[in-house]
Amino acid sequence: MCGIVGYTGPNPALQKVLEGLKRLEYRGYDSAGVALTLSKGQPLFVAKKAGKLNNLENELAAKHESAHSGIGHTRWATHGGPTDENAHPHISNDGKLAVIHNGIIENYLELRKELESRGHKFASETDTESVAHLLSEHFKNTGDLAAAMREICQKLRGSFTLLAVHSDAPETIVGARRNSPLVVGVGAGEHFLASDVSAFISHTKQALELGQDQVVEVTPDAVVVTDLTGQVVQPKSFEITWDAKAAERGGFTHFMLKEIFEQPKAISDTLTGRFTESGVKCEELKSINLNAKRILILACGTAYHAGLIAKYAIEEWAKTPVDVELASEFRYRKPVLTNDTLVITISQSGETMDTLMALRHAKELGAQTLSVCNTIGSTIPRESDAVVYTHAGPEIAVASTKALLTQIIALQVIALYISQEKKTLSTHEISKLRDAMLSLPNQVEEILETVEPLREMTRGFKDSTSVLFLGRHVGFPAALEGALKLKELAYMHAEGFAGGELKHGPIALIEAGTPVIAIMPPVTSEISEKMRSNIQEVKARGANVIAICDANTEVDASHVIRIPSTHELLQPALSIVPLQVFAYEMAVARGNDVDQPRNLAKSVTVE
Ligand code: G6P
Repeated sequence: MCGIVGYTGPNPALQKVLEGLKRLEYRGYDSAGVALTLSKGQPLFVAKKAGKLNNLENELAAKHESAHSGIGHTRWATHGGPTDENAHPHISNDGKLAVIHNGIIENYLELRKELESRGHKFASETDTESVAHLLSEHFKNTGDLAAAMREICQKLRGSFTLLAVHSDAPETIVGARRNSPLVVGVGAGEHFLASDVSAFISHTKQALELGQDQVVEVTPDAVVVTDLTGQVVQPKSFEITWDAKAAERGGFTHFMLKEIFEQPKAISDTLTGRFTESGVKCEELKSINLNAKRILILACGTAYHAGLIAKYAIEEWAKTPVDVELASEFRYRKPVLTNDTLVITISQSGETMDTLMALRHAKELGAQTLSVCNTIGSTIPRESDAVVYTHAGPEIAVASTKALLTQIIALQVIALYISQEKKTLSTHEISKLRDAMLSLPNQVEEILETVEPLREMTRGFKDSTSVLFLGRHVGFPAALEGALKLKELAYMHAEGFAGGELKHGPIALIEAGTPVIAIMPPVTSEISEKMRSNIQEVKARGANVIAICDANTEVDASHVIRIPSTHELLQPALSIVPLQVFAYEMAVARGNDVDQPRNLAKSVTVE
């Protein structure tokens, strides 16, 4: 998954490329590199370094102000470990051509063999280096970088975003994409190419979307997009509504903390314009058959948990049966799907490869498709029949927080809308739920205002070896999310369990002092008593119980974290907030890199 950026224009390219890479570092941070065109026909300036971007920056320290075009890459290793040699850019043997890549070239071994037999010397173990040598061969024949790129794309198998520069065409950058993202930023006398718009939002709000199997050639003054046959195509332009400040830390120590604190605003943005006096509005679903016999939700990671939570609301309110499946599992089986199934994909980035492939698989089987997504213009919403955007704003920290809460809310708005159209809920019931939803931003704010004691308590558990999370009903997927967050950030053993399953195995894990975080449903819930019994069961075996519950719930626990009262099905939007803070604080206490946890990347655009 890797971040890619290119710049051509009147300003020093190095600075623009490094700035873009900083914004894209969430996509991978094993190593980084740049290639700059210094003068026509001369070898490019190339620098690359294993480790985080500042390793590369320290080495570069304000060099090469004279270069006005260049490309940069931040890597999440797939083929070949994170070393200086494997870092991108990869260079042709004459040093005049450089390539950066996001994705996987599946036939790279075949290509490498052929290229080696024709005398190319390889310097890395990557799949990408084959592209650099192949492109240089084709460039020699054509003298036209875009034409050479079109030719080689027809020989490549797999997924890729590629950017290339050649010193014979010093102002030109050529890009291509298949199943990986690439957008063009259109400035005044300058152009940017990047994996996503955050790389250039401080310079321009005008952008172009590139379609599948398209090649783009940019110079400071022109952008030409073609398909692989060389036919010129008109790219779709769009305006970026995100504010540049929104992509910066704004005084918080970490992006994750900033994003946790942005949740009240994010939820409120998700809800903006959704309710009228007479009911729920969801224009985006006008073309969708809401009487689908079944809904299938597909997603990965935290987005999958949003799907698990939404299932309860869709079934209870809209009376449509819902299955939720990991996209990575769905795409490799032979599911029975017909055109009366509505498939909903959920993705913050809109680029997760498994979710994208699952969406395509579902479309091939004839299902209608709807996506819930945060990133405008990304591939998943583009390929879906309809999209509901979450409007959470840019999420930079690898661990997802505000994207999740807004996914839950957007899905519950969809559930309410379907119920309204199917008339499975009365107007009165819908208005009660609307009021409860509209209170959520303030309620999350309330939790965040009283978060200090929770942070202090968390630090007390920093040497624990394992933390268990318990929940029932919608509290169960919330427990799964609490455990996932802790694994991702604190690198601790953490597991989420359904309270009812405790006695079928997990209770054997309880030892004296084991922290167990129990999510209590509202006192009115029929499972409130059951959860109370679960707490007694683990306490009796020595667990240190931390209970998350609303003000009306009495509970026998060592630590009690209070959250405001809400409708049972809406509770995860509140109960997950302390779980996020717990994982965040634990990561800080254990000295971990909160925004860029080891081995992870924000957007997993490889399989
Ligand atoms: C990665 C991220 C997770 C995210 C998942 C799905 O694993 O680290 O935070 O939930 O991908 O990403 P998506 O962009 O599809 O929501």
